[in-house]
Amino acid sequence: MSILLKNAQVILPEVEGGVRSNCFVGTRNGRIDYLGGEEAGLTDRYDRIIDCTHKTVMPGFANAHNHAAMTLFRNYADDMKLMDWLFSKIFPLEDKLTDEAVYWASLLAMVEMIKGGTTVYSDMYFFMDSTVKAASEAGMRAVLSRGLQGESGGEDLDYRLKENLELYRQYHNSSDGRIKVMLGPHSVYTCSEAYLRKVVKASAEHGIPIQIHLSETKEEVRNAIEKYGMSPVRYLDRIGMLGNTTVAAHCVVVDDEDMDILAARGVQVVHNPGSNMKLASGIAPVSRMLEKGINVCLGTDGASSNNNLDMLEEMRMATYLQKVSTDDPTALPVDAVLRMATVNGARALGFEGLGTLAAGSPADMIILDTEQAQYYPKYNVRSALVYSGSSADVETVMINGSLVMEKRNLITLDEERILYKVNKWAMKLTQNS
Ligand code: NI
Repeated sequence: MSILLKNAQVILPEVEGGVRSNCFVGTRNGRIDYLGGEEAGLTDRYDRIIDCTHKTVMPGFANAHNHAAMTLFRNYADDMKLMDWLFSKIFPLEDKLTDEAVYWASLLAMVEMIKGGTTVYSDMYFFMDSTVKAASEAGMRAVLSRGLQGESGGEDLDYRLKENLELYRQYHNSSDGRIKVMLGPHSVYTCSEAYLRKVVKASAEHGIPIQIHLSETKEEVRNAIEKYGMSPVRYLDRIGMLGNTTVAAHCVVVDDEDMDILAARGVQVVHNPGSNMKLASGIAPVSRMLEKGINVCLGTDGASSNNNLDMLEEMRMATYLQKVSTDDPTALPVDAVLRMATVNGARALGFEGLGTLAAGSPADMIILDTEQAQYYPKYNVRSALVYSGSSADVETVMINGSLVMEKRNLITLDEERILYKVNKWAMKLTQNS
């Protein structure tokens, strides 16, 4: 199916201040095949025309760090310290999870992501076959990894890595290339050195990128220095885990030397301002990292530490946090945070051309209703989006050239059924706990 978006105002995140009006965007076979003004015979070349007069079109958001199925634990345990929250609340419940629970909870995340304009996201969890099924049905673009953790390098741990490799073998580049697979060692503090080295070896052997939580809290850094005599960043560098396909979530507690290492290795850093604030982890030095040339992108983290998957909200939190932490209102301006939420994230997740609107790019786009009160007066739509917009303004979502939501109606997913199923599973899992 070929679709032409007609007469739109277009935001080009990769171009400083980039906005075009009266723009036509054509898509065919999952890719953008036309971007420009009206020309003779243009509308005849497409199966379907969507009139975008008074609407704004832009690339979909890239949520570069998430644990989709953790929507199941949203608002279950709040106002706790990270380690206490993880070890006393989340890990015990996760022990009771089933593939079906993960399937429905993943779908819930996809409902929320699509309604908020996210078209690609990254996941680290388990029962990932269920998440593959969910993403495939939802029409989402997804980068999935099996969460790996273990204190010793024994046989019992190998099964997780084997599952991750099997996930790669079965699903990498599946669903018309929408689904990719990475290796997902959870963190320095949940994996032994022997185990991390195994992951590095498997990554090199099969050419599979890695995603990991890194330097999230002061406690993590303190413990690494005590145990290994160095910061988590230096430790992972020594192990050989840092490279330009490595996606490191958080990087909140990093010093100049850590940042120089991340820059030198070309590591993809994911900033998670909502989660970092809620868990009082601190404020990642995002402006400094960008100055050093690090590709910093944006993620929500799991819904139980945020507690939503709203990338527009995340953009606003990111820019406010940099301003307040640096005493500088010019820090992390609109253009920078828009790039983080789109093109930087798409690059970090390894999709070429994604996050930009150009002929040849994957056709992952959103149409926003920018005719509402919060977008007036009409000075600068990019500022309006970041500082005044809301995810409810996302009207229509296209992924890989297919519509997954149109005028707020989900096309691929049965929202009512998903909400019912997730609630049922949540009640079942939390009984007697
Ligand atoms: Ni996380």
